[in-house]
Amino acid sequence: MSNLKRLAVLTSGGDAPGMNAAIRAVVRTALAQGIQTMGVTSGYAGLVEGRFRPLDSLAVSGIIQRGGTVLHSARCPAFRLPDTQHQAVRYLEEAGIEALIVIGGNGSQQGTLALHRLGFPVVGIASTIDNDLAETETTIGVDTALNTAVGYIDRLRDTASSHHRAFVIEVMGRDSGYLAVMTAIAIGAETAVVPELSLDPEAVAQDVQAAYARGKTHYIVVVAEGAALKAWQLTDYLSHHASGVDARLSVLGHVQRGGSPTVRDRVLASQFGTAAVQSLLEGHRGIVIGLSKGHIIEIPLEAAIAPCEKVTPQLLALAGILAR
Ligand code: F6P
Repeated sequence: MSNLKRLAVLTSGGDAPGMNAAIRAVVRTALAQGIQTMGVTSGYAGLVEGRFRPLDSLAVSGIIQRGGTVLHSARCPAFRLPDTQHQAVRYLEEAGIEALIVIGGNGSQQGTLALHRLGFPVVGIASTIDNDLAETETTIGVDTALNTAVGYIDRLRDTASSHHRAFVIEVMGRDSGYLAVMTAIAIGAETAVVPELSLDPEAVAQDVQAAYARGKTHYIVVVAEGAALKAWQLTDYLSHHASGVDARLSVLGHVQRGGSPTVRDRVLASQFGTAAVQSLLEGHRGIVIGLSKGHIIEIPLEAAIAPCEKVTPQLLALAGILAR
């Protein structure tokens, strides 16, 4: 792979703050090695249509601070089909592209694995606000999403306190409760509801009443969107079964995916982007670039997309103890 002349990069799945910094790092690291980078528009959807454009240094100038992705992103269920995957490889080869870097989360790296199994050289970069890739401590976008959620919930707490209200706040995370539990710890929530632990709404109702009896002026529950007990169900339950409790629902939604990346996400994305190109130059493929104990690591694709246990009993216990 050291005679690599042209590679491509795409961003896939839900956008994440810091994706642009990763694209920039890929393009500039490649350029420094005399390699041309082609940008694929709209993730796998663009790949299967052969939508490539050359990216020079200027094309990635002034994007490190921007949220979203300048390459655009898409969900592409059709990429699960073998015919579509073969089509993508044909387009890549016809364009003289010798390797592909995929910036995305769990679903996106499943597509990367499919291309790897077809023998096309691929490297993934862990990027999703969900932090749902295994063996990497974090992914590009998580830090910004958490800071965004915390900023909004701090404001909600002000109004919750003024009105002695309970707020049930839904955060993203797909099937993972990572964003929810970390947000709960960071804002000092009274309860976190996550997919990894089932919770009875009656237990929450009793806890709200006990908290008010202790003199609390607000009660904040952070609910992961993937939890069995949905935020709207809990709000409804509290409104009808917890006497004296005035509950409100707030869904943070896609606001968590936007905004300028934090310093941590910009630096992480820069490191991941550079590492991805270096891995290709060293002939490594079928891997995802991630982070472990402060070091940039290569994770085999199969391992990266395996179920991960980021919401540990220790994190849940911490959130619980500090809420009392
Ligand atoms: O994967 C990122 C994410 O924001 C998830 O947290 C969420 O479940 C999903 O994407 C929402 O997807 P869409 O933007 O397609 O509605």
